[in-house]
Formats: sequence, C-alpha cells, structure tokens
Amino acid sequence: MALTKRNKIAVANIVGISMIILALIPIIIVTVNARQTHVKQSSPSFYVIPLGTTGGLDENNLSSYLLTSVNNNNNPSSAYIVLDGGTIRHGIEIAIQQNSLPADTDKETFIREQIKAYLISHGHLDHNSGFILNTPNDKSGKFIIGLNETINIIRQSYFNNQAWADFGSTGLKTYDYQILDPLSTTSVPIANTDFNVRIFRLCHTCPYLSSAFLISRRYQPSASVLYLGDTGPDDVEKIIQPDNTTYSPRYLSQLWKEMAPLVIADQLKAIFIEVSFPNERPDHLLFGHLTPNWLLKELNVLRSYYSMKNVKIIVTHIKPEKGAREKIIEQLSNGDASYFNFIFPQQGQAIWL
Ligand SMILES: *[C@@H]1O[C@H](CO)[C@@H](O)[C@H](O)[C@H]1NC(C)=O
Ligand SMILES: *[C@@H]1O[C@H](CO)[C@@H](O)[C@H](O)[C@H]1NC(C)=O
Ligand SMILES: *[C@@H]1O[C@H](CO)[C@@H](O)[C@H](O)[C@H]1NC(C)=O
Ligand SMILES: [Zn+2]
Ligand SMILES: [Zn+2]
Repeated sequence: MALTKRNKIAVANIVGISMIILALIPIIIVTVNARQTHVKQSSPSFYVIPLGTTGGLDENNLSSYLLTSVNNNNNPSSAYIVLDGGTIRHGIEIAIQQNSLPADTDKETFIREQIKAYLISHGHLDHNSGFILNTPNDKSGKFIIGLNETINIIRQSYFNNQAWADFGSTGLKTYDYQILDPLSTTSVPIANTDFNVRIFRLCHTCPYLSSAFLISRRYQPSASVLYLGDTGPDDVEKIIQPDNTTYSPRYLSQLWKEMAPLVIADQLKAIFIEVSFPNERPDHLLFGHLTPNWLLKELNVLRSYYSMKNVKIIVTHIKPEKGAREKIIEQLSNGDASYFNFIFPQQGQAIWL
C-alpha cells in the first residue's frame, strides 16, 4: 500500500525527531554523569567502599577502605580486602544505607565471609581499632598483611593477652601474618582474592614507619591502585642516626619512581593519599602528615614523569578539625591542583575505578 503524501511527511517527521533524540542521548548521558561525582566508568576494574574517611577522633569514621575487583559483567566481586581497619562495622552499616552494598547484606556475615584480608599500613590505633574490636567474631584463615614493623606492633601492643586476646598465629590463630618485604620488587598473591600486592616504606615521623600497598589484579595486571598510609613530606621527614647526624630517606620520591612506568602505561587507576591538615599548619607541627601544598609538591614529582589526568587522587585522613575539610577542598582547587583529578571520599559512598 502506497503512503499518502501526508503520511510520508508524518513518517519523515517521526524519523527526524527520532534522529534528533538519538543524537541527544550521548549529550544527556554525559550531562547526567558529570553531575555524579563517582561515576561508574565504561569498564571499571575496581570497586571501593570507604568505611571511614577521617584522620581521627570520630570513632565511627576512621580510615578504612573496602576494595574488590569488578568482574566482566561490571559487578563487584564478592571477595573484598580491607585497606586499614579504623572503622569496620559502622562503615558497613552506612554502606548498606547508601546502596553501596545490597540492602539484604547482613553485616556480621559480610565481615566473616566477604572480607578476606586486612592490609594494615601502620600500627596507629586510628587504623586498627575497628578491625581489632571485631576480631572475636571473625572467621579463621585470614591474613593480616603488612611490614614486619607493623605486624610486630599488632602482636606486641594489641594481641598481647593484655590489651586484647591474641588472635594471631601464636594464640587463638584466627589470623596468620603475611609479612611483606619492602625491598622486594615483585607482587605476591593475597589468598582467597584475585589480587596481588607489593609494599613500600613510608616515613611517618621518622624513625616510625608507615607503608603503601600497590594492589593489582592477578589476571588483569594492567590495572592497579596505590594506597598510602599516613606519611609526611620527603623534605620534612628525617632520620636521626646514632651519631646525631640526620639524613632524609625520601621514601616518597622512591615510590614515585616506581609508579612512573604504571602511570605512563595508564595502568594506575588511583592513588589513595592523606592530607591531614590545611596549608596553615606549620611544618614543625605536621607530625608525619601532609597539607595540600605538600601533597601538590609530591604529586608534581610524579607529574614530572607523565600526565596525571587519568589517575584519581583520593584524598584520605582529613583531621576532623572545624572547617578543615572545606579549607582543604578549597586549597586543592587552585593553581597546580588543576593538573590532578581529586576525589574527596564520603563514608559508605562507592567509588568505581
Ligand atoms: C565522615 O567523615 C567525613 C569527613 O572526612 C564527613 O564528610 C562525613 O560526613 C562523615 N560521615 C558521616 C556518616 O558522618
Ligand atoms: C620481624 O621482626 C622480628 C622482631 O624484630 C624478628 O625477630 C623477625 O626476624 C623479623 N622477621 C622478618 C621476616 O623480617
Ligand atoms: C646525641 O644527642 C643527644 C641529645 O641531644 C645527646 O644526649 C647525645 O649525647 C648525642 N650523641 C652523640 C653521639 O653525640
Ligand atoms: Zn592516622
Ligand atoms: Zn598514623
């Protein structure tokens, strides 16, 4: 049946309108995405849930990040690791409220079954308290992973049958220790996950050591994230030797050198790094922490190797002093900050990497 002229015009109009709508869809999607801060990318490699984001005081919101890989169907895998254990249980509650975990998640079961390992950057209480308090109900067979120095603090200061029962390998055996060697240049597997890990030393008021973890996907090694525990700037951190002379170990600059090839190859998805205080904080009161200016100075070292525009910089450990968060966000929005893609994590709100 032949179309009438009027019908033809109507069809043409519908086709025309459809084409305009089709043409607009990408613009609409881009606009919607731009409004959300932590957009799910086309093919993310990692899924992060911040369980706690502050650098102290608020016991319900202390440094801790759940990390898992994202499978081929773009869903987070069920096997998580925890990067630092400041706040665990309350963070999981908030994550369920924020729909970052399924609504029917039972937090008890989640902690027992889905957290496979604890990676602890250093021994300070604000990175361990939630994890330690939850040990009595945990399932055995998991590893606590860190530098020997950190593991020694956990054994001697917490799992000593005085501060807390010994849940480690010399006591109740809930956990085994996986000591990582900072001088080794290879990554080692994290049991029951599809992750590998490598460790690096950091200075946190020398000679006190903190550490950074480079996590990569075992079967997709082209994707990694770097998580740094507390650290001060290379120019401030010094080691005093027995003869009272000092030297600067410059652990951050060594770390950036190791990261350069990953940045160049577009394999590093994110860097979790601390900014504890706003710029007004004098250097002699940093106590092994960074300010926005010091962070930019450090990141500029990395940028001197390659553009940082594809690496998300997740700013952790802001001290909960009045107005500090707003000031730090403001101070990381000017000047050299434009070369970097900063993310200010919120408790319970998932980040796709
Ligand atoms: C946790 O701390 C962050 C600051 O780092 C703050 O923005 C957030 O509101 C806190 N979360 C809750 C649930 O209070
Ligand atoms: C870890 O430290 C302890 C205590 O200093 C020491 O006995 C042990 O040999 C160290 N282990 C490793 C693997 O370095
Ligand atoms: C190093 O400094 C301390 C404190 O100032 C002093 O007691 C000590 O004798 C000094 N050691 C040496 C080797 O000079
Ligand atoms: Zn801390
Ligand atoms: Zn610390």
